Amino acid sequence: MPTRLLACQADITALEVDAVVNAANPSLLGGGGVDGAIHRAAGEGLLGECRQLGGCEVGDAKLTTGHRLPARFVIHTVGPVWRGGRHGESAFLAACYRRSLEVAVASGVRSIAFPAISTGVYGYPIESAAEIAVATVRATTTELGGPDEVIFCCFSDTDLAIYTGLLDGR
Ligand code: AR6
Repeated sequence: MPTRLLACQADITALEVDAVVNAANPSLLGGGGVDGAIHRAAGEGLLGECRQLGGCEVGDAKLTTGHRLPARFVIHTVGPVWRGGRHGESAFLAACYRRSLEVAVASGVRSIAFPAISTGVYGYPIESAAEIAVATVRATTTELGGPDEVIFCCFSDTDLAIYTGLLDGR
């Protein structure tokens, strides 16, 4: 069965999925935005587990458990900081989605929710970031044969409209 791709507008910390993806920084020790929200909702145990991971490179992804989140796992990935688009940003962003899905499938995750990685504090323009997100998820899930469901979890209604347009093939 092909992977189902959906977009929704929600606080990612409330989603009942097997894994949520965190848009982290290389320290993996927390921050603002979705990272702060995930750490607040998951509790201190998540920070303790992250301390054992030794950080994460841009474009890579690492798995922890979800602690107090409804999600069983958190997959922490580090997006690129937008520096105008000529510093490999698109390849690093695509790598975040690909690596997160590889880690998810290797851990038996069947449903996963992504935030719009790099499009907040890191400044990546949402239209091109969303195109990369959807194209990379389509290609990688076809290649891996899973997971069953991928949710693009948007915080704003404008982001949701962009993802919905891409998923409808418009
Ligand atoms: N649920 C879903 N999406 C959210 C939530 C939430 N609770 N909160 C924010 N967003 P950002 P980045 C959206 O800044 O650009 C942190 O300090 C937000 O509206 O969280 O990858 C890290 O530690 C935006 O659409 O992540 C890093 O230092 C998207 O999530 C840095 O920020 C990503 O925005 C990473 O920056």
